Amino acid sequence: MAEQIAHATKEGSAQAVQRCLSPACGASFGVRERIYVCPKCGGPLEIECPIPRAVDAASLRAAWQARRASFEPRDRSGVWRFREMLPFDERAPIVTLAEGNTPRYDAPRSAEYAGLDALRLKHQGCNPTGSFKDTGMTTAVTQAVLLGARRVACASTGNTAASLAAYAARAGLQCAILVPRGQISAAKLAQSMDYGAAVCEIDGNFDDCMRLIQELGEDPSIYIANSINPFRIEGQKTVAFELIEHCGGRPPDHVVVPGGNMGNSSAFGKGFGELLRMGMIEQLPKLSIIQAEGAAPLARLFAGLDDAHRAPRAPLPESITPVADPRTLATAIKIGSPVSWQKALRAVLDSRGQIISVTEQEIADAKAIIGRDGIGCEPASATTVAGIKKLVAASHIRRDESVVGVLTGHVLKDTDYVSHYHRGTLSIGPGNAGAAAQPISGKFRNAPERVPATKAAILDYLERKR
Ligand code: F0G
Repeated sequence: MAEQIAHATKEGSAQAVQRCLSPACGASFGVRERIYVCPKCGGPLEIECPIPRAVDAASLRAAWQARRASFEPRDRSGVWRFREMLPFDERAPIVTLAEGNTPRYDAPRSAEYAGLDALRLKHQGCNPTGSFKDTGMTTAVTQAVLLGARRVACASTGNTAASLAAYAARAGLQCAILVPRGQISAAKLAQSMDYGAAVCEIDGNFDDCMRLIQELGEDPSIYIANSINPFRIEGQKTVAFELIEHCGGRPPDHVVVPGGNMGNSSAFGKGFGELLRMGMIEQLPKLSIIQAEGAAPLARLFAGLDDAHRAPRAPLPESITPVADPRTLATAIKIGSPVSWQKALRAVLDSRGQIISVTEQEIADAKAIIGRDGIGCEPASATTVAGIKKLVAASHIRRDESVVGVLTGHVLKDTDYVSHYHRGTLSIGPGNAGAAAQPISGKFRNAPERVPATKAAILDYLERKR
């Protein structure tokens, strides 16, 4: 193992660098330096991988697809089968749970609801721990092993925690997770407990946990696995490769994702950008981000940009105004101060996409429609379909354009929400700022009914339900 790590360390270091994205700085650092932001200027870091030279695009595409038929864990993983694009050597001791390779479904009812001829949904909730986070954890925890870290840690609204807990368990590392007490779903918390993590319930919100985790990262025993860690983004960017593969190599007109801490959108931007530079796609799909109305700092910032500042390669604003008391039942994206907002905004502007927000009612109804397609997802994921409907209504998306919505978490991640919606008891409580409590009506309610234990009564019920 030690020899393997030494070799991987040497090779990996030789091929890729960590680059500061701040235009005034642009400093680069080795990939085995344990840093999360630029040590010189504090700017965000990105991994710069050399684009594979020895192989042409068509053979690379064929190799990636052929690996799906292999039984080798490195080939079977929907992240590591794209390993030519990752900052790791062939011999890196990968930590994998066969993540990625998630399905892309046709969703005709959701399409009709949103006002489109057709809609495809890429379901990242079909990952081993039920969310897209797994595609980033496989690379972040592999990097932790290469760095010789003893402990990995993250702040989380639940899914990052569950994912890190699982991958840390696979690697035999101690895992510390910081979650806002009483604000994450029971199922996500249960996963972290089951995977053996040290669960720290913090009195505060996600942004408080995120601040704390950055302080903890100063301790040499701790390796941070939040998406400020650029190795997370490396794994997550592979979903862009997979999505283009599903579309037969032709990018769709639009890709729409939910936005919280903005790691996912940043990763899509990076993945599509690399494919464009390699000549594997001819143009970028328009990337749009949807936030929940009560936790929408980036949508607010975007709405305030004039046309000149929305142009591709326009200079980014220097700061974002956080939402002090984020409020949404989509707890996964209840975030007021997203750490990766600059990378995400860059990706949206460069592809000429949009950033908007949707209401609690719009999220709840879109979620129920996705369920009617037989797909299902957690509340945060449904922002995509709710957002697509709004973008179509505002003529940012044409009815006949090709659109892929990304679902980020599994329907079983938050069954309390689902059950309350269908029983008609869903409501959002008052926020700290004193907003009024608000009931959410279950427009597409499907509550269970107590039916007498006879054949006739059941058939009668089925007739009435038709
Ligand atoms: N959807 C789900 C289901 C999520 O769990 C998250 C983020 C997002 C969307 C937003 O993605 O942060 O990359 O913009 N969840 C994080 C967590 C914050 O801790 O699980 P993002």
